[in-house]
Amino acid sequence: MSFRIIGTGSYVPEKVVTNFDLAEVIDTSDEWIKQRVGISERHISTDESAAEMGYKAALNALEMSNVKPEELDLIIVASISNDTICPTAAGTIQKLLGAKCPAFDVNSACSGFLFAIDTAAGFFARGKVKKALVVGSERMSRIIDWNDRGTCVIFGDGAGAAVLEEGDGYLESKIATYGGDDVIKIPSGTDASPYYNKETEAAHVFMDGQETFKFAVNTITSEIQEITEKAGLSVDDIKYVVPHQANIRIIQFASKRLGLPMEKFFVNIEKYGNTSAASIPMALDELNRTGDLKRGDIIAMTAFGGGLSSATCIIKW
Ligand code: COA
Repeated sequence: MSFRIIGTGSYVPEKVVTNFDLAEVIDTSDEWIKQRVGISERHISTDESAAEMGYKAALNALEMSNVKPEELDLIIVASISNDTICPTAAGTIQKLLGAKCPAFDVNSACSGFLFAIDTAAGFFARGKVKKALVVGSERMSRIIDWNDRGTCVIFGDGAGAAVLEEGDGYLESKIATYGGDDVIKIPSGTDASPYYNKETEAAHVFMDGQETFKFAVNTITSEIQEITEKAGLSVDDIKYVVPHQANIRIIQFASKRLGLPMEKFFVNIEKYGNTSAASIPMALDELNRTGDLKRGDIIAMTAFGGGLSSATCIIKW
């Protein structure tokens, strides 16, 4: 037994920051960001935590699914940027929803939502749950160095959610980790211990953009090929790929290498930037709400990020 997705939801905070706004405070331009990354604007939270945004996305997903919070058997939240470590983002969302089930966070950076989905699949496989809520929610703006133009123009805030129920929709998946801190690193911040004898690093995203770029194109391409084959399908059977929205050029390279037209890749990076673990569920919700997904459609979701990590799955809608 696996699951099928019966509802999706998303939420972005109200404040919009355009490339032109950023160009007023750092040395960048709308033209550079659009050409090199594909982003025009992003939403930035002024007062809401990742958990609070995740709660609003979850409400939308529950409404679409016609599921009440008390029917949930499990809540998993993927996030690296919640305002508190404890309570967990999942614990806060559980409380705000009024749900009673176990709830916990997973951290696998931008691949987090797909790691969370894969974790939920294990609960379904053991017959432990009938309905689960999986959320990706990020307030990336609080862990970015706003003076570093190589990273601060890329990220945005937001949340996405999916409600899963028992079914046969999770066809194949791969989650992978290539541990190391040389490509992407986000230190956790201050250390108050009097016995700690290392210099504390700022809790900001440090990223080697070009290495991340190469890793992303290679993993997206090889994992989609590998996973579709394992599912007994060909890439031509895929109706849509929902990729992590990190850079439009990464998606264009992957499209070329896979021989899959860009129209099959759902892209919304222009409006939101890279929202880390929220990017895939936000894109999935937007795609779902176009009404273009039909039961039985084959969808690939693929992500990469800090860890380094990557994850890809094939689902039958
Ligand atoms: N505005 C204007 N110029 C900028 C800039 C900005 N925001 N950021 C960097 N530049 C400049 C650099 O200083 C450099 O100038 P130089 O040639 O005078 O030295 C030039 O642009 C090229 O920099 P480079 O780092 O080679 O750019 P790039 O084409 O690799 O693009 C990224 C940088 C970060 C957009 C790109 O590497 C990327 O998207 N990588 C993947 C990142 C990612 O996916 N991260 C998320 C992981 S989940």
